[in-house]
Order: sequence, then structure tokens, then C-alpha cells
Amino acid sequence: MNVYDSARMADVLAPQGYAPVDSPDDADMVILNTCHIREKAAEKVYSELGRIRQIRDRRAALGRTTVIAVAGCVAQAEGQEMRVRAPFVDIVLGPQTYHRLPEMVARTTRAGGVVATDFPVETKFDELPEASAPQGPSAFLTVQEGCDKFCTFCVVPYTRGAEFSRPAAQIIAEAKKLVAQGSVEITLLGQNVNAYRGPAPGGPGPDGERWGLARLIRALAEIGGLARIRYTTSHPRDMDDALIAAHGEVAALMPFLHLPLQSGADRILAAMNRGYRAGDYLALVERLRRARPELALSSDFIVGFPGETEADFQATLELVRAVNYAQAFSFKYSPRPGTPAALAEDQVPEEAKTERLHRLQALLWGQQLRFNRSKVGATIPVLLEKAGRHPGQLVGRSPWLQPVYLEASAAGLGRIVEVSVRAATLNSLSGRLVAPVMEDAAA
Ligand code: 5AD
Ligand code: SF4
Repeated sequence: MNVYDSARMADVLAPQGYAPVDSPDDADMVILNTCHIREKAAEKVYSELGRIRQIRDRRAALGRTTVIAVAGCVAQAEGQEMRVRAPFVDIVLGPQTYHRLPEMVARTTRAGGVVATDFPVETKFDELPEASAPQGPSAFLTVQEGCDKFCTFCVVPYTRGAEFSRPAAQIIAEAKKLVAQGSVEITLLGQNVNAYRGPAPGGPGPDGERWGLARLIRALAEIGGLARIRYTTSHPRDMDDALIAAHGEVAALMPFLHLPLQSGADRILAAMNRGYRAGDYLALVERLRRARPELALSSDFIVGFPGETEADFQATLELVRAVNYAQAFSFKYSPRPGTPAALAEDQVPEEAKTERLHRLQALLWGQQLRFNRSKVGATIPVLLEKAGRHPGQLVGRSPWLQPVYLEASAAGLGRIVEVSVRAATLNSLSGRLVAPVMEDAAA
């Protein structure tokens, strides 16, 4: 979502004459778009700011000014505090205020800096200009923001605010524009994307008709030229019947789902306020796989949540074995200021977290490698996205989000081609084109 938001910030500043540059040394303004989800991500902001300050001083010696802005969830969470800790920062703006950037930039000429961390997400999407820069073959599109779930470890409900769904008509219009600009795949974004409940086209109407995510996906699948649809991140609790059915019926909906489990122990899931038990998750996975047998799953895990015992951790390993993931992210629990779990007294020692993380990752990486190897020998459709590591090489994505390396001419970019997979590593596949890319073929 920060990638998408950064692109929108570039869009909003384009009319003021700002365009992206490759290096901060050439930048009249540097915007750090930040993440507050774990302490490590948040601390990185201050070290990066130190580096940017040096660049600003070097430029000042040449008579150039540099506006420094901090956007995103660290800005939201720390607001005025950040102005004290890093007084050279000119603009601090939370995730729901990007449409106000031009006005804030104008105000930085006055002394004292500008801080904007208010919350009306409803106005953000109405006031942001339409996306202007093409995103390439695979694009992001935010459909929902914020979260009302309040998992006890998580800062998102405090930094991104309450759940908000964009109107379906606005999303469809943006998707059509992305496709007209050459995007073939769209990933629908939201902190709780499957909690999407947006006003139906034509407005919510007197009866306040709203669409769920399944309905939105079916409408988007009608757009000619849009071959692939994905969505992330979903919550197991919001995986309703309509969405499960869509996985079986909408061909453009890719057979890969990121479905964070966090823990396999019911006791820990309850303490996390996740709202499901391990058995519910397994039953859900079974229903999804019945709807779409080739569906591959990905997940997020937290190890060392307060009170997690070795037996709880074993329950997580057991669930991972039962599901068999194609990919996953795993993290050591990081206490976040203002969240309930940070106050718990039974924090798990750092060494135990590290050791559990290693054991979990060993298991997950084994599953990932086996999943990737299972594609060797198969012929699969690959969306060619960008240049590969070597000249003459392109890299694309399989339906299961695996990067696939192959030799192909740049004319193939943005096309979906058939690839015979020859080799697999932990992080990618490689293969050969089944038929050469036709230079003049219609897309
Ligand atoms: N500590 C560790 N991991 C966290 N996540 C969210 N909050 C924390 C935290 N305090 C992880 C969850 C979530 C992912 C985006 O980040 O696994 O799904
Ligand atoms: Fe955070 Fe996701 Fe839980 Fe919301 S559902 S509080 S975003 S982990």
C-alpha cells in the first residue's frame, strides 16, 4: 500500500512541477513514506532521516534548498514528537492527508514546519487526482483502508484509522484507466481488503446498497484486457461464501491467496483477538481448496507473542504442516506503543523468539521450495513484467506469484506467455518460452 500511496503522492505533486528523480541528491523535495508495523521499520526512519539531512546540507552549500517530508504511519503515530526528535523535517503527514500535500509544500516556506495527522479518509480519495503515471503490466489499486479488528499486537487501527471502503464506481473507473494505460493485472489493496463494503455504483441509494469484495471482483473481471486480479491482505474472518465461490468461478482471480494465520494455538489466537480458532482456519482452507483445487496459500506469522509457550509454538508448526504453504512471512513479536499486548507482563525473551523464528522459517522455506519444485516440468502462463538480471532476460510472475526468469525479447513485456518451467529455487522459477513472442501480435 505504501508503494501505491507513493505513486499517488507523485500524482498529486505533478501539477506543481514535481517529477520523480533517481537520487535524493537531485531532489528539491524528499518524501520518506514510512511503516510503523514493527519497531525495526519505525527506527529505520530516523537513521534514514540523518542521511537525508546530510544530503540537504550538501545541497545547501551549493545554494539549493531541499524540503524534507515524512509521510505514512510513523508520521501518523509520532506527529509532533517527530518534529522534536528531527526538527529539520519540514512536513509530517499521516496516510489520510496526502491530497493536502501541495498546500503543505506551499506552507513550508513559513518557519516552523507543518504537521497534518487528521483522519477523514473519506475525503482523501475524492480529492486525490486520478492516477496519472502508468504503473506497468501489474498495478496496485487501493479499494479499502483502515481496520476495525484491533488485534492486540497491531498498530494499524490507530495509524490507518477505521475501516473505509471506496465507492465501487470509483474503483471500476480507476481500474479501467489502469488497463487503458497497459496494466494487465491489478492487485486490490486494503489492510482488510475482504472486509470491503463499498457503495454500489449509482451511489448507496435509499437502501444503502453496498458491494462486498466478491461482487467487486466479478465486475472488474468484465473489464476487457484485465487478465489477472489479486487482492491482499485478507482476514480469515471476512472470507465469506461469496468470495470463496468467486475463487472457483472467476477465471481472472489468481489461484494464490495471502491469508494470515499469525499463530496455530487457540490460546494465543484468543489473546491476539483474532476471532477464529486454528480449526476454523483449517476448515476455511479446505473450503477454498475445494472451490479452487490449484489454490496456493501464503501467510503471516508472529512468534513470541506474550505468553506463547513451547507447546503453543508447536501448535503453530503443526498447523503449518497441515496447510502446506507456498510462501509466508514470519516475524518476531515486536511490542508496539499503545497496543494492549505491549503491556502484557509475560513477554517472551528475545533468544526464545529468535530460536522459534529460525525453526518456523526452516519449515516454511522447505514448503516453499517444494511448492516451487512442483512446477518444474509444467507449462504455465507468465505475465512478463520487466527486464531480468541479464541482457535478453525478462522476469514475470506465475499465477502463484512466483517470479519466473526466461529469455525473451522486450516486445513481450506486458504479455502473458506460456513458459515451460525448467528449474526452481527457493525464490524463483526459470524456464523457456513455449512459442516465440510475436513482435506484431495484438496484446
Ligand atoms: N510484531 C510483529 N509482527 C507484527 N505484525 C503486525 N504487528 C506486529 C507486531 N507488533 C505482522 C503481522 C501482520 C503483518 C503485516 O505484520 O503478522 O499480518
Ligand atoms: Fe492489524 Fe490486520 Fe489485525 Fe487489523 S486485522 S489489527 S491490520 S493484524
